[in-house]
Amino acid sequence: MSDYVRTEILAPVALLTIENPPVNLLSDEVWEAIDRAVAAAAADAAVGAIVLMGGGTTFVAGADIRRFARLATIDDAMMRTGWTHAMLRRLEDTPKPLVAAIHGHALGGGLELAMACHFRIATLDARLGQPEVGLGIIPGAGGTQRLPRLCGPDVALRLCTDGTPLTAERAAHAGLLDHIVAGDLRSSALGYARAKAVQARTRKTREVVLPPDVIDAGLAACAATRAGLAATARGRRAPLAAVDAIEAGLLMSFDDGSLREREIFAACVVAIESRALRHLFFAERAAARLPADVTRVGAATVRYAAVVGAGTMGSGIAMAYANAGLPVVLKDVDGAALDRAMTAIARHYESAVAKGRLESYRRDRALALITPTMDFDEFPQVDVVVEAVFEDQALKERAFAEIAAVTREDCLLASNTSTLDIDALAEASGRPAQVVGHHFFSPANVMTLLEIVRGRRTSAAVLSTSLAIARQLGKSAVIVGNGFGFVANRMLAYYLREALLLLEEGASVGQIDGAMTAFGMPVGPFALQDIAGIDVGARIRQHLAAGGRTWASGPQSRLPDQLYRMGRYGQKTNAGWYRYEPGSRHPIADPLIEQLADDAAGARGLTRGAVADDDIVARLLTALANEGARVLEERLAQRAADIDVAYCHGFGFPRARGGPMFHAHTIGLDTVLARVHDYRARFGDYWQPAPLLEQLVRESRSFYEGS
Ligand code: 3HC
Ligand code: NAI
Repeated sequence: MSDYVRTEILAPVALLTIENPPVNLLSDEVWEAIDRAVAAAAADAAVGAIVLMGGGTTFVAGADIRRFARLATIDDAMMRTGWTHAMLRRLEDTPKPLVAAIHGHALGGGLELAMACHFRIATLDARLGQPEVGLGIIPGAGGTQRLPRLCGPDVALRLCTDGTPLTAERAAHAGLLDHIVAGDLRSSALGYARAKAVQARTRKTREVVLPPDVIDAGLAACAATRAGLAATARGRRAPLAAVDAIEAGLLMSFDDGSLREREIFAACVVAIESRALRHLFFAERAAARLPADVTRVGAATVRYAAVVGAGTMGSGIAMAYANAGLPVVLKDVDGAALDRAMTAIARHYESAVAKGRLESYRRDRALALITPTMDFDEFPQVDVVVEAVFEDQALKERAFAEIAAVTREDCLLASNTSTLDIDALAEASGRPAQVVGHHFFSPANVMTLLEIVRGRRTSAAVLSTSLAIARQLGKSAVIVGNGFGFVANRMLAYYLREALLLLEEGASVGQIDGAMTAFGMPVGPFALQDIAGIDVGARIRQHLAAGGRTWASGPQSRLPDQLYRMGRYGQKTNAGWYRYEPGSRHPIADPLIEQLADDAAGARGLTRGAVADDDIVARLLTALANEGARVLEERLAQRAADIDVAYCHGFGFPRARGGPMFHAHTIGLDTVLARVHDYRARFGDYWQPAPLLEQLVRESRSFYEGS
């Protein structure tokens, strides 16, 4: 008996239950408790077989990754994995049949623990996987060596490089499970173990010998996986590292392969990629919690939604709801716009089916959930309304008053505005406590960020329900303040400003985009504008200019407005910063842009010259981090980690770098500050260090203390 493992002797079976709520993580103490409990049960003469199961809602979700921070060096990691490997070998050598009985999740170390048992049974709803790659590591407790022996190299490669778990049915089909339990797991496991006690037969995964043809096919699969990852890994090392470890296992003995796995795991766990991904794991969970100053209150149940405005965003938001299985009415005042929206939605699902990304029954279900309408008849029934009409303050205020008049008092009223004042919309509704911003990112059915904009009077219940909606829709939520551009777009403005200035200084559009994609961004700043629409930014600037404001402070390049006046809106007009052949999204460099950049530079008295790729990356990331520090000062974001989550999910900042603030943290805030000073000296006083950045450097502190 220990704190973490409860032993029941139900002769001839010892039932060991791992108790480390909520998800039975494997800290060192839990591993050790399992080791002791199994050894004690094996030594008990009354015991003929042992069952290992998880208490609560799950088997074991894996290693406690908070503890990985203690693995500061490769030697630390080698030592720890050495202990775990030896412990699992002891488990496998247990002379009495050892059965893993799985419900909920067997992930990471949880699955590795199960694979060291002699038999595995699971409930139908169980999920089994090696999600380590999502944390920048590889399985470090024998997973890369035992998996191929149990389910073949192909499945092992897929599990370890992709990270998506298998359903119990698929796991059984792959050879990972011996039996699927239909009824109660505990009684079934006891019955199964009793039978094993009679047979008194054990089975060691590590002793499985793969036939030579399976090994050859596995080696070919490793090469093919590596080639595939070259296109998709975007600089991430962990997926390739998993292939290396599996390949080593195919070429070497179990012991030598295991040593190689430990070496590779150790190199991964101390690398920035893993630190960054572990940071995001916790950042995403923290961002999805209510702020500390908000009364804890439960979320309302959302069963039925309405979207007002069936344009680009409204259509995408309606699809996001339908994809989550929620019925949604999509309202517009323009019948033609509504028809266009429904056609575009149908075409989207059709193409997903044609590409094999969606089963046809899911398309049918989603389409049946979206109802186009030009009236408010259904509005008294809905639990949430998302307004996505044109970006016009007066129009939106009218829309909010109208919507409030036809919905229930408890209906959540959200606006998808990118730039307008949520408080003004809240007042216009007459129900300010119910109003909140739900700022989706385009395309709303794909991008995973939801900025939840907290107005001055937004209620705790509405924030809580908004977080629940984000979860339902599969979005990462970040609660942000009601300031111009909120968090992600506000920072983007500074990033784009610098990209434009770099163009005028002499870098080409293609060079700047190339430098940023090499850094890991999915698209560079110019391709991004061509996708989003150069007209969209131009209209925002016009709106701001009317109020005497600019989007970002400092010098503004005239080039985007010039393109706008030329009707070069980006992909939608086949010309923007690049040229596009009709029907193609492939960007083609356009010499005209170089000419325009020469002219713009000339008008500012500059001669364009060479700029190094590294300088481009440093400039753009420094602009992000410095503005991020201001966003923090102004409390538009609650914590630096929220900014990381927003930027990774909203603009595809490479997760393996942890987000713009984490990246600044890893290169050193003093380095970032020194760059700001250097840029100020070279480019002008518009470069000013954020006071928070200066303060943190002065006090040798980081963005992440106390968060
Ligand atoms: N390490 C540390 N904390 C973890 C954790 C982990 N591996 N997995 C979950 N937690 C924490 C969460 O942060 C959360 O804490 P909080 O309540 O303080 O916010 C709590 O456990 C519950 O987790 P969730 O909120 O995520 O619970 P859900 O029910 O939504 O999801 C889950 C459960 C599907 C198991 C999900 O938590 C998950 O996917 N966890 C990560 C699984 C994983 O990656 N395992 C591999 C770890 S690495 C490893 O095992 C290496 C091995 O090879 C040695
Ligand atoms: P859009 O121009 O594509 O569509 C707006 C739709 O609203 C049109 O179909 C129009 O007919 C309809 N509409 C106008 N008045 C209406 C009313 N009173 N009632 C019902 N429908 C009405 O606009 P888009 O791009 O979809 O933007 C909508 C909102 O989303 C804006 O607030 C915008 O700032 C915001 N947004 C836009 C993003 C983008 O990338 N396009 C990203 C995030 C937010």
